[in-house]
Amino acid sequence: MVHRVQGQMVQELAAADIGAPPRRYVLKEEDRPTAGGGVRGQPEMAAIPTIDVGRLGEPGDVEEAAKLWAALQSWGLFTVTGHGMPEAFMDEILDATREFFHLPPEEKEKYSNVVDGDKFQPEGYGIDRVDTDEQILDWCDRLYLQVQPEEERQLQFWPDHPPAFRGLMEEYAVRSEQVFKRVLAAMARTLGLKEEFFVNKVGERIAAYARFTYYPPCPRPELVYGLKPHTDNSVITVLLLDKHVGGLQLLKDGHRWVDLPVLTHHELLVVVGDEMEIMSNGVFNAPVHRVVTTDKERMSVVMFYQPEPHKDLAPSEELVGDERPALYKKVKAKTFGDGFWDAFAAGERTIDFLKVKVERQETAAVSSAG
Ligand code: OGA
Ligand code: NI
Repeated sequence: MVHRVQGQMVQELAAADIGAPPRRYVLKEEDRPTAGGGVRGQPEMAAIPTIDVGRLGEPGDVEEAAKLWAALQSWGLFTVTGHGMPEAFMDEILDATREFFHLPPEEKEKYSNVVDGDKFQPEGYGIDRVDTDEQILDWCDRLYLQVQPEEERQLQFWPDHPPAFRGLMEEYAVRSEQVFKRVLAAMARTLGLKEEFFVNKVGERIAAYARFTYYPPCPRPELVYGLKPHTDNSVITVLLLDKHVGGLQLLKDGHRWVDLPVLTHHELLVVVGDEMEIMSNGVFNAPVHRVVTTDKERMSVVMFYQPEPHKDLAPSEELVGDERPALYKKVKAKTFGDGFWDAFAAGERTIDFLKVKVERQETAAVSSAG
């Protein structure tokens, strides 16, 4: 059984010109976005670093690697250039995404994430999973597809329209994976480890999922989230963002929301995910982020890179010692990935939801007893 609002697309609500979002989308007063999006207060713009991935791994990349380290420590995300993708190609991907979401509802329904009328599964088109009556819904619709490994693609969910969609995504999958691999290798090197270090942990046949999110114009942006606060279910996430409309915000220093600038299509955004936080024993942290809406439509194409499902996720031995005890417990990548959906629907972090963090009190109690 699926929740009765599961099939209610936000895009159709927005098109109905309702004046204000229905109650199910309206945030409690204390959760409402108060800054950013250009509609409220004085937004604070994040000055996030830019890394040239083309230079990472080349001889003499010391400077770029130092920038990468600093970016990871202070933000957990950064923009990348030097990825080799022409701007026109990146435009085409977002254009194809827009075309898909602008198809008539009955066309998009063919790829619905509710199958046989009553079974929800993550892949396909629709809204995110609704578990309870209390859950406050995000102001977005999405299409979610596994793109790697190739044999795992469920092509019945891949849009036939626009006709260019499939070819573009096949190419984007290859190119985006190159960015992922370069960044992963460089992150290992910043820790003084071999460049294959993380690749060996996650496996050669990594899983890549593409999330195409459509944020319809919202009549009262200050009342809703486009996407609720979360960390990503990934080792690393590669994002291609709308070059016209902003809305992505980052929780800085655990307490203040800052706006990410609107990026040009020379740039991708790379974000550290939960799985990297665990593997690096918290040396790298997954930043909490959210999306606020505006009176304009907005789109993003986001690639989540996850370990092979049978792999263990655990703090790497090389990063655990007396000075830095293991902060997380071992968990199967698949268990963690499945748990993400339950945690996301509940508005919690997967790491907390699955109690993957080691209880520090236990250790303290033991050592004070000793
Ligand atoms: C996500 C995400 C940001 C955006 O899909 O996990 O954070 O701008 N998206 O759409
Ligand atoms: Ni995210």
